[in-house]
Amino acid sequence: MAENPRDMSTQIPSNEDTHNENIRCLTTLSHFGFECLPTQLVNKSIQKGFSFNILCVGETGIGKSTLINTLFNINLKENKTSHFYSKVGLKVKTYELQERNIPLKLTVVKTVGYGDQINKEASYQPVIDYLDAQFEAYLQEELKIKRSLVDYNDSRIHVCLYFIAPTGHSLKSLDLVTMKNIDRRVNIIPLIAKADALSKSDLQRFKSNIMSELDNNGIQIYQFQEDDEDAAQANPSGNGLLPFAVVGSMEEVKVGKRMVRGRHYPWGVLQVENENHCDFVKLRDLLLCTHMEDLKDQTHSHHYECYRISRLQQLGFNDTGPDSQPVSFQEMYEAKRQEFHNQCQREEEELKQTFMQRVKEKELTFKDAEKELQDKFEHLKRIQQEETLKLEEERRKLEEQIIDFYKMKAASETSQAQVYTNVKKDKDRKK
Ligand code: GTP
Ligand code: MG
Repeated sequence: MAENPRDMSTQIPSNEDTHNENIRCLTTLSHFGFECLPTQLVNKSIQKGFSFNILCVGETGIGKSTLINTLFNINLKENKTSHFYSKVGLKVKTYELQERNIPLKLTVVKTVGYGDQINKEASYQPVIDYLDAQFEAYLQEELKIKRSLVDYNDSRIHVCLYFIAPTGHSLKSLDLVTMKNIDRRVNIIPLIAKADALSKSDLQRFKSNIMSELDNNGIQIYQFQEDDEDAAQANPSGNGLLPFAVVGSMEEVKVGKRMVRGRHYPWGVLQVENENHCDFVKLRDLLLCTHMEDLKDQTHSHHYECYRISRLQQLGFNDTGPDSQPVSFQEMYEAKRQEFHNQCQREEEELKQTFMQRVKEKELTFKDAEKELQDKFEHLKRIQQEETLKLEEERRKLEEQIIDFYKMKAASETSQAQVYTNVKKDKDRKK
Protein backbone atom coordinates (compact mmCIF):
# COMPACT_ATOMS: atom_id res chain seq x y z
CA MET A 1 0.00 0.00 0.00
CA ALA A 2 1.28 3.45 -0.84
CA GLU A 3 2.56 5.34 2.16
CA ASN A 4 3.92 8.31 0.33
CA PRO A 5 1.36 11.13 0.64
CA ARG A 6 2.42 12.30 -2.84
CA ASP A 7 1.62 8.92 -4.41
CA MET A 8 -0.95 9.66 -7.04
CA SER A 9 -2.67 6.24 -6.96
CA THR A 10 -5.74 6.11 -4.77
CA GLN A 11 -6.48 2.79 -3.06
CA ILE A 12 -10.12 1.74 -3.09
CA PRO A 13 -10.77 -0.84 -0.39
CA SER A 14 -12.52 -4.07 -1.45
CA ASN A 15 -15.44 -5.58 0.49
CA GLU A 16 -13.08 -8.12 2.00
CA ASP A 17 -10.67 -5.43 3.14
CA THR A 18 -13.37 -3.36 4.80
CA HIS A 19 -13.94 -6.21 7.17
CA ASN A 20 -10.29 -6.19 8.05
CA GLU A 21 -9.88 -3.30 10.47
CA ASN A 22 -6.06 -3.54 10.47
CA ILE A 23 -5.81 -2.34 6.92
CA ARG A 24 -5.28 1.40 6.62
CA CYS A 25 -7.42 3.24 4.03
CA LEU A 26 -6.18 6.24 2.03
CA THR A 27 -8.53 8.99 1.13
CA THR A 28 -8.20 10.92 -2.16
CA LEU A 29 -5.61 13.65 -1.87
CA SER A 30 -6.77 17.20 -2.42
CA HIS A 31 -3.72 18.04 -4.50
CA PHE A 32 -1.07 16.17 -6.46
CA GLY A 33 1.74 18.61 -6.01
CA PHE A 34 1.92 20.38 -9.33
CA GLU A 35 -0.38 23.10 -8.09
CA CYS A 36 2.83 24.61 -6.73
CA LEU A 37 4.14 25.22 -10.27
CA PRO A 38 3.18 28.93 -10.24
CA THR A 39 5.13 29.31 -6.99
CA GLN A 40 8.18 27.82 -8.71
CA LEU A 41 7.77 30.34 -11.51
CA VAL A 42 7.39 33.22 -9.07
CA ASN A 43 10.51 32.18 -7.13
CA LYS A 44 12.50 31.74 -10.31
CA SER A 45 11.39 35.11 -11.65
CA ILE A 46 12.24 36.88 -8.39
CA GLN A 47 15.67 35.25 -8.39
CA LYS A 48 16.27 36.26 -11.98
CA GLY A 49 14.91 39.77 -11.46
CA PHE A 50 12.71 41.81 -13.74
CA SER A 51 13.56 44.29 -16.41
CA PHE A 52 11.53 46.96 -18.13
CA ASN A 53 12.54 49.32 -20.90
CA ILE A 54 10.67 52.58 -21.42
CA LEU A 55 11.05 55.07 -24.23
CA CYS A 56 9.89 58.64 -23.56
CA VAL A 57 9.28 60.68 -26.68
CA GLY A 58 8.36 64.32 -26.21
CA GLU A 59 9.44 67.88 -26.65
CA THR A 60 12.15 69.40 -24.50
CA GLY A 61 10.83 70.39 -21.06
CA ILE A 62 7.46 68.68 -21.49
CA GLY A 63 7.83 66.77 -18.23
CA LYS A 64 9.40 63.44 -19.20
CA SER A 65 11.88 63.19 -16.32
CA THR A 66 9.36 64.40 -13.74
CA LEU A 67 6.81 61.79 -14.82
CA ILE A 68 9.35 58.93 -14.70
CA ASN A 69 10.41 60.05 -11.22
CA THR A 70 6.78 60.22 -10.12
CA LEU A 71 5.97 56.81 -11.63
CA PHE A 72 8.80 54.98 -9.89
CA ASN A 73 8.91 57.26 -6.84
CA ILE A 74 12.59 57.98 -7.35
CA ASN A 75 14.41 61.25 -7.50
CA LEU A 76 16.84 61.08 -10.37
CA LYS A 77 18.46 64.45 -10.63
CA GLU A 78 18.87 65.46 -14.22
CA ASN A 79 20.11 68.60 -15.88
CA LYS A 80 17.68 70.42 -18.10
CA THR A 81 18.28 69.86 -21.78
CA SER A 82 19.12 72.69 -24.14
CA HIS A 83 16.72 73.74 -26.89
CA PHE A 84 19.57 74.29 -29.32
CA TYR A 85 20.51 70.82 -30.55
CA SER A 86 20.83 70.69 -34.32
CA LYS A 87 19.24 67.24 -34.42
CA VAL A 88 17.28 64.85 -32.23
CA GLY A 89 19.23 62.47 -30.01
CA LEU A 90 18.49 59.83 -27.40
CA LYS A 91 19.66 59.57 -23.80
CA VAL A 92 19.77 56.03 -22.36
CA LYS A 93 20.02 55.39 -18.63
CA THR A 94 19.65 52.20 -16.63
CA TYR A 95 18.68 52.05 -12.95
CA GLU A 96 18.63 49.10 -10.54
CA LEU A 97 15.47 49.54 -8.45
CA GLN A 98 14.04 47.47 -5.65
CA GLU A 99 10.52 47.39 -4.20
CA ARG A 100 10.31 45.16 -1.14
CA ASN A 101 12.42 42.20 -2.34
CA ILE A 102 11.56 42.57 -6.02
CA PRO A 103 14.48 43.82 -8.11
CA LEU A 104 13.72 45.75 -11.29
CA LYS A 105 16.26 46.78 -13.89
CA LEU A 106 14.71 49.87 -15.43
CA THR A 107 16.05 51.35 -18.65
CA VAL A 108 14.75 54.77 -19.57
CA VAL A 109 15.43 56.17 -23.03
CA LYS A 110 14.49 59.82 -23.52
CA THR A 111 14.54 62.01 -26.59
CA VAL A 112 16.82 65.04 -26.52
CA GLY A 113 16.07 68.09 -28.65
CA TYR A 114 12.84 66.61 -29.99
CA GLY A 115 10.73 69.26 -31.76
CA ASP A 116 13.39 71.97 -31.42
CA GLN A 117 14.60 72.09 -35.03
CA ILE A 118 13.04 74.24 -37.73
CA ASN A 119 13.12 71.32 -40.14
CA LYS A 120 11.42 68.48 -38.29
CA GLU A 121 11.36 66.07 -41.20
CA ALA A 122 13.88 63.58 -39.81
CA SER A 123 13.01 64.05 -36.12
CA TYR A 124 11.59 60.54 -35.77
CA GLN A 125 14.47 58.80 -37.56
CA PRO A 126 16.77 58.44 -34.49
CA VAL A 127 13.86 56.85 -32.60
CA ILE A 128 13.24 54.34 -35.40
CA ASP A 129 16.96 53.60 -35.67
CA TYR A 130 17.20 52.96 -31.94
CA LEU A 131 14.15 50.65 -31.87
CA ASP A 132 15.45 48.68 -34.88
CA ALA A 133 18.97 48.48 -33.47
CA GLN A 134 17.66 46.78 -30.31
CA PHE A 135 15.62 44.30 -32.39
CA GLU A 136 18.64 43.63 -34.60
CA ALA A 137 20.88 42.97 -31.57
CA TYR A 138 18.35 40.45 -30.24
CA LEU A 139 17.98 38.81 -33.66
CA GLN A 140 21.76 38.46 -33.99
CA GLU A 141 21.90 36.81 -30.56
CA GLU A 142 19.06 34.47 -31.56
CA LEU A 143 20.81 33.49 -34.79
CA LYS A 144 24.09 32.65 -33.05
CA ILE A 145 25.06 28.98 -32.82
CA LYS A 146 25.91 29.40 -29.13
CA ARG A 147 23.12 31.58 -27.82
CA SER A 148 22.93 33.05 -24.35
CA LEU A 149 19.39 34.39 -24.34
CA VAL A 150 18.86 33.45 -20.68
CA ASP A 151 21.30 36.07 -19.39
CA TYR A 152 20.98 38.27 -22.46
CA ASN A 153 20.66 41.97 -21.67
CA ASP A 154 17.42 42.54 -23.55
CA SER A 155 17.27 46.19 -24.52
CA ARG A 156 14.16 46.01 -26.71
CA ILE A 157 11.75 48.80 -25.81
CA HIS A 158 8.59 47.53 -24.11
CA VAL A 159 6.60 50.72 -24.14
CA CYS A 160 6.79 54.19 -25.64
CA LEU A 161 5.24 56.94 -23.56
CA TYR A 162 4.42 59.59 -26.13
CA PHE A 163 4.12 63.03 -24.49
CA ILE A 164 1.58 65.29 -26.20
CA ALA A 165 1.79 69.02 -25.49
CA PRO A 166 -1.35 70.32 -23.70
CA THR A 167 -2.41 72.64 -26.51
CA GLY A 168 -6.09 71.81 -26.11
CA HIS A 169 -6.49 71.80 -29.91
CA SER A 170 -5.14 68.83 -31.80
CA LEU A 171 -2.01 66.82 -32.40
CA LYS A 172 0.94 68.48 -34.12
CA SER A 173 2.03 67.08 -37.45
CA LEU A 174 5.28 65.93 -35.81
CA ASP A 175 3.26 63.88 -33.31
CA LEU A 176 1.29 62.20 -36.09
CA VAL A 177 4.31 61.51 -38.29
CA THR A 178 6.37 60.09 -35.44
CA MET A 179 3.62 57.89 -34.05
CA LYS A 180 2.73 56.66 -37.56
CA ASN A 181 6.34 55.65 -38.13
CA ILE A 182 6.90 53.86 -34.85
CA ASP A 183 3.54 52.21 -34.20
CA ARG A 184 4.63 48.92 -35.85
CA ARG A 185 7.78 48.82 -33.76
CA VAL A 186 6.65 49.58 -30.23
CA ASN A 187 3.62 49.72 -27.92
CA ILE A 188 2.60 53.38 -27.87
CA ILE A 189 0.78 54.86 -24.90
CA PRO A 190 -0.11 58.49 -25.63
CA LEU A 191 -0.09 60.90 -22.69
CA ILE A 192 -1.27 64.47 -22.41
CA ALA A 193 1.63 66.00 -20.51
CA LYS A 194 1.17 68.79 -17.94
CA ALA A 195 -2.56 68.11 -18.04
CA ASP A 196 -3.02 70.63 -15.23
CA ALA A 197 -2.81 73.27 -17.97
CA LEU A 198 -6.26 72.28 -19.26
CA SER A 199 -9.71 72.60 -17.72
CA LYS A 200 -11.80 69.45 -17.32
CA SER A 201 -14.05 70.17 -20.31
CA ASP A 202 -11.11 71.24 -22.52
CA LEU A 203 -9.31 68.07 -21.54
CA GLN A 204 -12.24 65.86 -22.49
CA ARG A 205 -12.56 67.58 -25.87
CA PHE A 206 -8.81 67.39 -26.42
CA LYS A 207 -8.81 63.67 -25.63
CA SER A 208 -11.55 62.88 -28.12
CA ASN A 209 -9.89 65.08 -30.78
CA ILE A 210 -6.64 63.18 -30.31
CA MET A 211 -8.31 59.78 -30.47
CA SER A 212 -10.19 60.61 -33.66
CA GLU A 213 -7.00 62.02 -35.23
CA LEU A 214 -5.10 58.86 -34.36
CA ASP A 215 -7.94 56.80 -35.77
CA ASN A 216 -8.22 58.86 -38.97
CA ASN A 217 -4.50 58.48 -39.59
CA GLY A 218 -4.52 54.73 -38.93
CA ILE A 219 -2.13 54.97 -35.99
CA GLN A 220 -2.08 51.85 -33.83
CA ILE A 221 -1.69 52.53 -30.15
CA TYR A 222 -1.42 49.96 -27.37
CA GLN A 223 -4.77 48.47 -26.38
CA PHE A 224 -5.11 47.32 -22.78
CA GLN A 225 -6.41 43.76 -22.86
CA GLU A 226 -9.28 43.50 -20.45
CA ASP A 227 -10.20 39.86 -21.01
CA ASP A 228 -8.26 39.02 -17.87
CA GLU A 229 -10.97 39.30 -15.21
CA ASP A 230 -8.64 40.60 -12.48
CA ALA A 231 -7.25 43.26 -14.75
CA ALA A 232 -10.72 44.21 -15.96
CA GLN A 233 -11.91 44.57 -12.39
CA ALA A 234 -8.91 46.64 -11.39
CA ASN A 235 -9.02 48.80 -14.53
CA PRO A 236 -12.47 48.73 -16.04
CA SER A 237 -11.86 51.62 -18.38
CA GLY A 238 -8.13 51.63 -19.29
CA ASN A 239 -8.69 52.17 -22.99
CA GLY A 240 -11.51 54.63 -22.34
CA LEU A 241 -9.10 57.00 -20.62
CA LEU A 242 -6.61 57.14 -23.50
CA PRO A 243 -4.70 59.37 -23.94
CA PHE A 244 -3.94 59.59 -20.23
CA ALA A 245 -3.92 63.10 -18.84
CA VAL A 246 -0.93 63.11 -16.52
CA VAL A 247 0.67 65.48 -14.07
CA GLY A 248 4.07 64.79 -12.57
CA SER A 249 5.55 66.07 -9.37
CA MET A 250 7.87 64.85 -6.64
CA GLU A 251 6.87 67.72 -4.40
CA GLU A 252 5.19 66.84 -1.08
CA VAL A 253 2.23 69.12 -0.38
CA LYS A 254 0.11 69.27 2.76
CA VAL A 255 -3.58 68.54 2.21
CA GLY A 256 -5.53 68.57 5.46
CA LYS A 257 -3.41 66.49 7.78
CA ARG A 258 -1.82 64.38 5.05
CA MET A 259 1.26 64.96 2.95
CA VAL A 260 0.60 64.10 -0.68
CA ARG A 261 2.53 64.43 -3.90
CA GLY A 262 1.18 67.31 -5.88
CA ARG A 263 1.60 70.74 -7.36
CA HIS A 264 0.81 73.78 -5.30
CA TYR A 265 -0.94 76.66 -7.09
CA PRO A 266 -2.19 79.99 -5.76
CA TRP A 267 -5.75 78.69 -6.13
CA GLY A 268 -5.21 75.23 -4.65
CA VAL A 269 -3.37 71.93 -4.77
CA LEU A 270 -3.36 69.42 -7.61
CA GLN A 271 -2.88 65.97 -6.16
CA VAL A 272 -0.98 63.75 -8.54
CA GLU A 273 -2.39 60.58 -6.99
CA ASN A 274 -5.99 61.76 -6.90
CA GLU A 275 -8.00 60.14 -9.69
CA ASN A 276 -10.34 63.13 -9.82
CA HIS A 277 -7.41 65.41 -10.63
CA CYS A 278 -5.59 63.43 -13.31
CA ASP A 279 -5.09 59.93 -14.77
CA PHE A 280 -1.66 59.37 -13.21
CA VAL A 281 -2.77 56.58 -10.84
CA LYS A 282 -4.58 54.80 -13.65
CA LEU A 283 -1.50 54.97 -15.84
CA ARG A 284 0.76 53.72 -13.04
CA ASP A 285 -1.58 50.82 -12.25
CA LEU A 286 -1.89 49.75 -15.87
CA LEU A 287 1.77 50.24 -16.68
CA LEU A 288 3.37 48.72 -13.59
CA CYS A 289 0.79 46.57 -11.80
CA THR A 290 -1.39 44.92 -14.43
CA HIS A 291 0.07 45.23 -17.92
CA MET A 292 3.87 45.23 -17.65
CA GLU A 293 4.09 41.56 -18.64
CA ASP A 294 1.61 42.03 -21.47
CA LEU A 295 3.64 44.96 -22.81
CA LYS A 296 6.73 42.72 -22.76
CA ASP A 297 4.80 39.87 -24.41
CA GLN A 298 3.47 42.18 -27.13
CA THR A 299 6.99 43.47 -27.73
CA HIS A 300 8.32 39.96 -28.21
CA SER A 301 5.41 38.24 -29.91
CA HIS A 302 4.18 41.07 -32.10
CA HIS A 303 6.66 43.89 -32.72
CA TYR A 304 9.85 41.82 -32.63
CA GLU A 305 8.15 39.10 -34.65
CA CYS A 306 7.27 41.62 -37.40
CA TYR A 307 10.88 42.85 -37.43
CA ARG A 308 12.22 39.28 -37.50
CA ILE A 309 9.94 38.28 -40.38
CA SER A 310 10.89 41.27 -42.50
CA ARG A 311 14.62 40.83 -41.78
CA LEU A 312 14.56 37.11 -42.59
CA GLN A 313 12.57 37.81 -45.75
CA GLN A 314 15.15 40.43 -46.65
CA LEU A 315 17.78 37.72 -46.29
CA GLY A 316 15.72 35.57 -48.67
CA PHE A 317 14.05 33.19 -46.22
CA ASN A 318 10.36 32.34 -46.31
CA ASP A 319 7.94 29.78 -44.89
CA THR A 320 6.48 28.94 -48.28
CA GLY A 321 8.10 27.94 -51.53
CA PRO A 322 7.44 29.46 -54.97
CA ASP A 323 4.40 27.18 -55.34
CA SER A 324 2.98 28.52 -52.01
CA GLN A 325 3.57 25.13 -50.38
CA PRO A 326 4.96 25.23 -46.82
CA VAL A 327 8.66 24.44 -46.67
CA SER A 328 10.83 23.68 -43.67
CA PHE A 329 13.81 25.85 -42.72
CA GLN A 330 16.19 23.06 -43.78
CA GLU A 331 14.50 22.72 -47.18
CA MET A 332 14.63 26.48 -47.60
CA TYR A 333 18.29 26.49 -46.55
CA GLU A 334 19.11 23.68 -49.00
CA ALA A 335 17.17 25.47 -51.75
CA LYS A 336 19.05 28.70 -50.97
CA ARG A 337 22.36 26.85 -50.99
CA GLN A 338 21.49 25.24 -54.32
CA GLU A 339 20.34 28.57 -55.69
CA PHE A 340 23.57 30.18 -54.51
CA HIS A 341 25.59 27.34 -56.02
CA ASN A 342 23.71 27.70 -59.31
CA GLN A 343 24.19 31.42 -59.26
CA CYS A 344 27.93 30.96 -58.65
CA GLN A 345 28.08 28.53 -61.55
CA ARG A 346 26.09 30.89 -63.74
CA GLU A 347 28.39 33.75 -62.86
CA GLU A 348 31.47 31.58 -63.43
CA GLU A 349 30.09 30.56 -66.82
CA GLU A 350 29.30 34.17 -67.67
CA LEU A 351 32.81 35.17 -66.60
CA LYS A 352 34.30 32.42 -68.74
CA GLN A 353 32.19 33.50 -71.72
CA THR A 354 33.16 37.12 -71.25
CA PHE A 355 36.79 36.10 -70.91
CA MET A 356 36.65 34.00 -74.07
CA GLN A 357 34.87 36.77 -75.90
CA ARG A 358 37.51 39.24 -74.77
CA VAL A 359 40.33 36.88 -75.78
CA LYS A 360 38.71 36.42 -79.18
CA GLU A 361 38.29 40.14 -79.61
CA LYS A 362 41.90 40.72 -78.61
CA GLU A 363 43.06 37.95 -80.93
CA LEU A 364 41.16 39.56 -83.78
CA THR A 365 42.64 42.93 -82.94
CA PHE A 366 46.12 41.43 -82.80
CA LYS A 367 45.54 39.59 -86.06
CA ASP A 368 44.35 42.81 -87.72
CA ALA A 369 47.35 44.66 -86.35
CA GLU A 370 49.67 41.85 -87.50
CA LYS A 371 48.12 41.89 -90.96
CA GLU A 372 48.44 45.63 -91.12
CA LEU A 373 52.07 45.38 -90.10
CA GLN A 374 52.67 42.61 -92.61
CA ASP A 375 51.06 44.69 -95.38
CA LYS A 376 53.12 47.67 -94.34
CA PHE A 377 56.25 45.51 -94.36
CA GLU A 378 55.40 44.11 -97.80
CA HIS A 379 54.70 47.57 -99.09
CA LEU A 380 57.99 48.90 -97.71
CA LYS A 381 59.82 45.86 -99.06
CA ARG A 382 58.31 46.46 -102.47
CA ILE A 383 59.29 50.10 -102.39
CA GLN A 384 62.76 49.15 -101.27
CA GLN A 385 63.07 46.61 -104.09
CA GLU A 386 61.84 49.14 -106.61
CA GLU A 387 64.29 51.69 -105.25
CA THR A 388 67.08 49.13 -105.44
CA LEU A 389 66.17 48.32 -109.01
CA LYS A 390 66.02 51.98 -109.88
CA LEU A 391 69.40 52.54 -108.29
CA GLU A 392 70.84 49.53 -110.09
CA GLU A 393 69.52 50.92 -113.34
CA GLU A 394 70.98 54.32 -112.66
CA ARG A 395 74.32 52.82 -111.63
CA ARG A 396 74.39 50.76 -114.80
CA LYS A 397 73.61 53.86 -116.86
CA LEU A 398 76.25 55.80 -115.00
CA GLU A 399 78.83 53.07 -115.58
CA GLU A 400 77.94 53.06 -119.28
CA GLN A 401 78.31 56.83 -119.34
CA ILE A 402 81.70 56.51 -117.58
CA ILE A 403 82.82 53.91 -120.10
CA ASP A 404 81.56 56.14 -122.94
CA PHE A 405 83.34 59.03 -121.37
CA TYR A 406 86.61 57.12 -121.11
CA LYS A 407 86.20 55.93 -124.65
CA MET A 408 85.57 59.47 -125.82
CA LYS A 409 88.51 60.67 -123.78
CA ALA A 410 90.76 58.04 -125.23
CA ALA A 411 89.55 58.88 -128.74
CA SER A 412 90.07 62.56 -128.21
CA GLU A 413 93.54 61.95 -126.79
CA THR A 414 94.36 59.80 -129.78
CA SER A 415 93.06 62.40 -132.22
CA GLN A 416 94.88 65.13 -130.31
CA ALA A 417 98.10 63.16 -130.51
CA GLN A 418 97.47 62.62 -134.21
CA VAL A 419 96.93 66.33 -134.72
CA TYR A 420 100.03 67.12 -132.78
CA THR A 421 102.09 64.66 -134.79
CA ASN A 422 100.71 66.03 -138.05
CA VAL A 423 101.44 69.62 -136.97
CA LYS A 424 104.95 68.63 -136.04
CA LYS A 425 105.43 66.87 -139.31
CA ASP A 426 104.17 69.98 -141.14
CA LYS A 427 106.57 72.15 -139.16
CA ASP A 428 109.46 69.83 -139.86
CA ARG A 429 108.62 69.77 -143.52
CA LYS A 430 108.46 73.57 -143.70
CA LYS A 431 111.82 73.81 -142.16
P1 GTP B 1 14.19 67.76 -20.76
O1 GTP B 1 14.77 66.50 -20.25
O2 GTP B 1 15.02 68.96 -20.45
O3 GTP B 1 13.79 67.69 -22.19
O4 GTP B 1 12.84 68.07 -19.98
P2 GTP B 1 11.77 67.04 -19.47
O5 GTP B 1 10.85 66.69 -20.57
O6 GTP B 1 12.44 65.91 -18.76
O7 GTP B 1 10.95 67.94 -18.45
P3 GTP B 1 11.15 68.03 -16.89
O8 GTP B 1 10.60 66.82 -16.22
O9 GTP B 1 12.56 68.39 -16.59
O10 GTP B 1 10.18 69.23 -16.57
C1 GTP B 1 10.36 70.51 -17.07
C2 GTP B 1 9.59 71.51 -16.23
O11 GTP B 1 8.22 71.23 -16.29
C3 GTP B 1 9.97 71.49 -14.75
O12 GTP B 1 9.98 72.81 -14.27
C4 GTP B 1 8.86 70.70 -14.10
O13 GTP B 1 8.61 71.11 -12.77
C5 GTP B 1 7.68 71.07 -14.96
N1 GTP B 1 6.70 70.01 -14.98
C6 GTP B 1 6.93 68.70 -15.06
N2 GTP B 1 5.76 68.02 -15.06
C7 GTP B 1 4.78 68.95 -14.99
C8 GTP B 1 3.36 68.89 -14.95
O14 GTP B 1 2.76 67.84 -15.00
N3 GTP B 1 2.68 70.08 -14.86
C9 GTP B 1 3.31 71.27 -14.83
N4 GTP B 1 2.57 72.35 -14.74
N5 GTP B 1 4.63 71.37 -14.86
C10 GTP B 1 5.37 70.23 -14.94
MG1 MG C 1 14.48 65.38 -18.68
